[in-house]
Amino acid sequence: MKNIIVLGAQWGDEGKGKVVDIYSEFADMVARSTGGNNAGHTLVVREEKHIFHLIPSGILHPGKKCVITNGVVVDPRVLLSEIDKLKSRDYLKDDAQLKVSELAHIILPYHILLDRAQEEKLGSRKIGTTARGIGPCYEDKIARTGIRMCDLVQPEIFAEKLRANLERKNFLLKNYYGAEEVDFQTTRDEYLAYGKRLHPYLIDTSLFLNEEIHRGAKVLFEGAQGTLLDIDHGTYPFVTSSNTTAGGLCTGSGVAPTKISGVVGVAKAYVTRVGSGPFPTELFDEEGQKIRDRGCEYGATTGRPRRCGWFDAPVVRYAHRLNALSSIALTKLDVLSGLPLVKVCIAYEIEGVRREDIPLTLSEFERAVPVYEEMEGWKKDLSDAREVGDLPKAAQKYVRRLEELTGVEVSLISVGADRNQTILRKNPFRA
Ligand code: GDP
Ligand code: IMO
Ligand code: MG
Repeated sequence: MKNIIVLGAQWGDEGKGKVVDIYSEFADMVARSTGGNNAGHTLVVREEKHIFHLIPSGILHPGKKCVITNGVVVDPRVLLSEIDKLKSRDYLKDDAQLKVSELAHIILPYHILLDRAQEEKLGSRKIGTTARGIGPCYEDKIARTGIRMCDLVQPEIFAEKLRANLERKNFLLKNYYGAEEVDFQTTRDEYLAYGKRLHPYLIDTSLFLNEEIHRGAKVLFEGAQGTLLDIDHGTYPFVTSSNTTAGGLCTGSGVAPTKISGVVGVAKAYVTRVGSGPFPTELFDEEGQKIRDRGCEYGATTGRPRRCGWFDAPVVRYAHRLNALSSIALTKLDVLSGLPLVKVCIAYEIEGVRREDIPLTLSEFERAVPVYEEMEGWKKDLSDAREVGDLPKAAQKYVRRLEELTGVEVSLISVGADRNQTILRKNPFRA
């Protein structure tokens, strides 16, 4: 049995898409189990760039089944446009390659309007969401008023649930937020048409995955967002609305924890974050801008400039505690080339007291001052490195130091956006 979770060990955008694409070759199927189209997972294959928001990043491998499970919130419009785009590029030739859970909740226009209106109302305290309706859709799921894929393909049930929801949502939109309302009939017709197109992909994905696992299939679970954006364990309230950590992927797919054989944490060789919230190692100077420019650090979903900073070891140690990482896939090491020295945060100081672990409360987090260790940089362009021995000594030393500081071995080093710009030290499906 080999079922591996790949998830973000920082604040998202660590390069999960690229890593999942690489590991997909060794898996039989790839499942997305959390989040929605707030995610933007980028793959570069033979100079062609693909950004996936909902469809698992294994989809470019013909014959590998890709599964969107119950924990994902699905915007049917976005899913259909991803399907169309893939087909226009000659992928997804066989519709049976993609499966979608009947239990996945769907994002409706009022979720998106509410997301925007809530953020506007928060003003300077806004979360900086992706404005895709993610939070309001998960709110409805928890409130037990959500509408699921299985409802979308039953016109009467869908109409009934939509009407009931619109009564409350439109009241809120109009009277509390002063925003536009959503029309029942247009929404019903538009979404029922989406339901018709998506119907052939719908199945019981938990049953499917468990049966396949029983038959010996290897499943790769693709995380979305990052550990520090987890609704329970992240920098609340500056988080997303789902559990991004390993347990969340089990709940989100209906596959039990005892079926998981390993968890790979994807971490950038530095840190980025989009949206608001604490970020102790953030750089506000030229060095931060240099990293942003060299790493093309602009959001794959919203195009927003990403905040950039030094590698934060307490953050990744925390990700290790929560997810029991089997190894780290370290990405974007190439971006640090040319810096005379690189810094790593090894601990924090809060009001003069040293802390090895990240604080729990927002106010402490905001007062946390990083304790840095400085390391020699390297000049060489790393993008052609395919073995650890191809890396300059200083870069090798940097990777070793990150392993020591996090207590986790680095099993993959990524040195460029392209699929082949990778040093694969250990294969989690073979280890
Ligand atoms: P994800 O959300 O975790 O899948 O990450 P994103 O796709 O949002 O952001 C990662 C970005 O870095 C994408 O533009 C990738 O193409 C790019 N990328 C991934 N790995 C590397 C790498 O090792 N080096 C460089 N220079 N770019 C990379
Ligand atoms: P991937 O999978 C980075 C951030 C948003 C915001 C917060 C809440 O590509 O790594 P939401 O729209 O989820 O309610 O926004 O979470 N966020 C991400 N940041 N990568 C992501 O996904 C993210 N998904 C959400 O910027 O701060
Ligand atoms: Mg992303």
